Amino acid sequence: MSAILPGATIGIFGGGQLGRMMAMAARAMGYKVHVLDPDPACPAGYVVDELIEAGWKDTWAAANLARECAVVTLEIEQVLIASLDAAAKFAPVRPGSAMLAIIQDRTEQKDWLLRNGFPVGRYRVCRTLEQLREAVEALGGKCFVKSAMGGYDGRGQAKIGFAAGATAEDEITEAWDDLRGGPCVAEQALALKQEISVMVARSPRGEVTVFPAAENHHEHQILEWSVIPAGISTEIEARARKIAGEIADAFNLEGLLAVEIFLTEEGELLVNELAPRPHNSYHGSERACVTGQFEQAIRAVCDLPLGDVSLVQPTAIANLLGEVWLDESGEAREPKFDEALAVPGVRLHLYEKLTPRRGRKMGHLSAVGASAGEALERVLEAKGRL
Ligand SMILES: Nc1ncnc2c1ncn2[C@@H]1O[C@H](COP(=O)(O)OP(=O)(O)O)[C@@H](O)[C@H]1O
Ligand SMILES: [Mg+2]
Repeated sequence: MSAILPGATIGIFGGGQLGRMMAMAARAMGYKVHVLDPDPACPAGYVVDELIEAGWKDTWAAANLARECAVVTLEIEQVLIASLDAAAKFAPVRPGSAMLAIIQDRTEQKDWLLRNGFPVGRYRVCRTLEQLREAVEALGGKCFVKSAMGGYDGRGQAKIGFAAGATAEDEITEAWDDLRGGPCVAEQALALKQEISVMVARSPRGEVTVFPAAENHHEHQILEWSVIPAGISTEIEARARKIAGEIADAFNLEGLLAVEIFLTEEGELLVNELAPRPHNSYHGSERACVTGQFEQAIRAVCDLPLGDVSLVQPTAIANLLGEVWLDESGEAREPKFDEALAVPGVRLHLYEKLTPRRGRKMGHLSAVGASAGEALERVLEAKGRL
């Protein structure tokens, strides 16, 4: 198998911020980039050679993307499998559709992890309201219910057993309606000590690199900040990296895979979910590691030698959601970027999204420091100044 060299064209399903930053890394290395996205004003549109405006179910457009490209990759896991297969007739699609088919359906993903011996929390697959009732009971009453398809940033999820005063039956029927009565996974709510993620890259020739673990903090189920290295013992870090590497091998991964892992109060590591693409929690890898996640994605899908991912300096990132551009009454405001950038070690990354909405990821700040704690302090200080 030979490497795909600079000068060639790379296709990307999805032109959101992840596709944009992958495209920028590819361009920096001398590749041309074509992107397929339903939104003509998508963030990647400004930095690519060609934007094909089409949806994830458009198999004809998917084939056209691949016709022009030496390899096709993705920034979103919800591309229709038939579209990936249509593309694969013209160019290798990395990661491939067999792996995507398992990952894009939460029920399949959970079952695959369990079947392959990876540690997961207690869960039940539910296809009817009655099954959801039984699951909540069997899992002890406090649950996260997640739709099988399409959820992200806490969307497509409902919590049961958290609200004071609500009856279980009301919460269950409400969750079922919220998730539109589709198949879902009910997970036991775990007492978390920390949340971490581990990014793995694997190339078609079987080379594997596992990044240092990132520690992640969520608010309202949306990532708020991440730091690399994670504040965990070397023993836990080694276990987490071993799990991530083994999952990548079990899939014969070609590309990137982010493994989200819960560290429970009891010291257990449980796999939460998988993302076969760059990940928000690794935006700091650009500065924390010798090779960042976006360049590594390009190297992996082009079957180039993978880059060194060892730690260079502790780095933290903080997400900038639409609310930063809106005042309390929802009126537009200008964030004070000049004041934020006065904090030592801080850099600004914006995605060129035109309309800020609450909960919408518009950009992030990154900061380096002598320690992960200092990097985090700096990035939060900068965010506070906005
Ligand atoms: N079973 C659980 N126990 C405790 N917290 C959970 C559980 N499932 C999800 N969460 C919290 O919600 C966040 C988002 O859930 P996740 O399954 O990762 O969905 P998403 O696709 O939105 O990232 C997690 O990072 C975690 O903070
Ligand atoms: Mg998640």
